[in-house]
Amino acid sequence: MSKVIVVGSINYDILSTMRRAPRAGETVNGDTVQLMPGGKGLNQAVAAAQQGLEVHFVGRVGQDMFGDRILSFFKDKGIAATHVGRSPDEATGSALILVEATGENRIVVIPAANRQIVPADADGLPIRAGDLLVSQFEVPRDTIATLFARARAAGARTLLNAAPALDDAPPGLWADTDILVVNETELGHFAGVELAGDATEAAIADAARRLFRRAGQTVIATLGVRGALAVTADAHVLVPGRKVAAIDTTGAGDCFVGSLAARLAAGDDMRDALRYANVAASIACTRIGTGTAMPTATEVLAAM
Ligand code: RIB
Ligand code: NA
Repeated sequence: MSKVIVVGSINYDILSTMRRAPRAGETVNGDTVQLMPGGKGLNQAVAAAQQGLEVHFVGRVGQDMFGDRILSFFKDKGIAATHVGRSPDEATGSALILVEATGENRIVVIPAANRQIVPADADGLPIRAGDLLVSQFEVPRDTIATLFARARAAGARTLLNAAPALDDAPPGLWADTDILVVNETELGHFAGVELAGDATEAAIADAARRLFRRAGQTVIATLGVRGALAVTADAHVLVPGRKVAAIDTTGAGDCFVGSLAARLAAGDDMRDALRYANVAASIACTRIGTGTAMPTATEVLAAM
């Protein structure tokens, strides 16, 4: 049975909803606050595990209360955490998330222990042909590059969610990525092109093709309500999104990536996996929260 391995970030999210976020020097009253497991890696792992796949996590937390809670959360969700280390001198990562009534969010991430994830953290974890290794840019780039090379050498596939778009990636990393998932901002950043909000599918596909380094690669551009555009060397196909009344889009991109990874590892072709991931992500947009807002396979199938 193929498995999903997430080399990823773990944060404790402090998420607050409010009519509007404060300006500099201003104080506002918020409506709600929630503390919950988050971080792009954790969110993606949960989304994948909820679809019934075997999921292993490679990451780090601190020796603190948040770290304890994360480990028991992984247990509840059935995610194998044998390769989640505890850094003795760093706290568990955290994120401060402000969600306005419009659904728009502002996020501050404190990486802490996530900065210490090294390739040796994955030692002893078997990576086999058919497995899918997933990562994001909240993990040190060199660690991702080393583990992606290891995965490809083992005949496994690699999926990179190049988010957030902070700086550049080690050159070898693009070549070792089979499937790259980016939103329009990230795509524009890495491709070095200006993409307007109403960019055509052809313009987005052209930008995506600038990121190819070898044959057989796929770039998935997520376009919000428009859906997801899958770009290969000789074709591009738009898989439309499902429209919902969004109340909190935080973590919806992670839901998309985790569900996509799960369906690809389960053997779906790209188009079916994208259709599924779009629906899963649309459900996440209707729930406040991140790691705790990921739908189950039953919920996704009911909405399809
Ligand atoms: O993508 C959403 C995630 O980004 C949040 O859970 C937060 O931890 C930040 O890493
Ligand atoms: Na959400």
